[in-house]
Amino acid sequence: AQPYETILVERTGRTAVLTLNRPKALNALNLQVMNEVVAATAELDRDPDIGCIVITGSPKAFAAGADIKEMRPQSYMDMYLSDWFTAWDRLGDLRTPTVAAVAGHALGGGCELAMLCDILLAADTAVFGQPEIKLGVIPGIGGSQRLTRAVGKAKAMDLCLTGRTMDATEAERAGLVSRIVPAADLLTEARAVAEKVAAMSAPVAMMAKEAVNRAFETTLAEGVRFERRLFHAVFATEDQKEGMAAFVEKRGAEFRHR
Ligand code: CAA
Repeated sequence: AQPYETILVERTGRTAVLTLNRPKALNALNLQVMNEVVAATAELDRDPDIGCIVITGSPKAFAAGADIKEMRPQSYMDMYLSDWFTAWDRLGDLRTPTVAAVAGHALGGGCELAMLCDILLAADTAVFGQPEIKLGVIPGIGGSQRLTRAVGKAKAMDLCLTGRTMDATEAERAGLVSRIVPAADLLTEARAVAEKVAAMSAPVAMMAKEAVNRAFETTLAEGVRFERRLFHAVFATEDQKEGMAAFVEKRGAEFRHR
């Protein structure tokens, strides 16, 4: 039996697929979903046998946003004292690479959840937006920041101020999406990407992720210095010896993940 009510977690080999499972509410992200996603991903992150985590929803909705019915009655004090949504930040702190596999609506918190992941695979049915303004609020899980970093001011302002959505093609052109795949192939493709990442050296994949993420937090010179330190450090891994030996010996690398 699974310990969760709003998500499903399935492990296959070195990968795990976490499926949001509130179909009646189009996977609206209430606090229970948040707590379960955060707990499940933290557990997978601690597991040395897991090398990549896929987060997905249903064909109709990745997630149609934070739960509007749950938020509606809240006061400022409720939101402030409970630090509403802050637990979602822990997804950005995961060391294990994550893949968002998005079909259908990825709106508000749904778009923000997808942007918290490292690789964003979109089905051709995916629709992205930050429509909070239509509800009289603004994004609250980092959308105004991550969307702007992903697609620039022009599109971010357009989406956040008008509440309009972007289809998968526009989102890919704008730089929000890593790849578009046919909807019917989304999970197969997401699993394949996850398996590919999970077959790499786990510590080196963590360092690659850390280095890319540093680009969002620092200057170019500091970021390059940070990369250089990590680059030197990977020469302390067995996996660097194996990866380079495999190349020279013209065989596939068998990373030991340490
Ligand atoms: N919160 C709570 N319930 C939601 C929901 C949400 N974000 N999105 C959909 N639902 C519920 C609907 O209320 C409906 O429930 P009932 O059957 O009980 O009425 C059910 O899911 C199905 O939804 P619809 O009937 O609306 O489905 P549709 O196919 O006609 O429309 C949709 C789909 C366009 C996505 C529409 O549901 C919609 O606009 N949803 C809200 C999108 C939105 O505004 N998201 C932002 C939320 S705020 C936010 O996320 C803040 C933040 O930054 C974190």
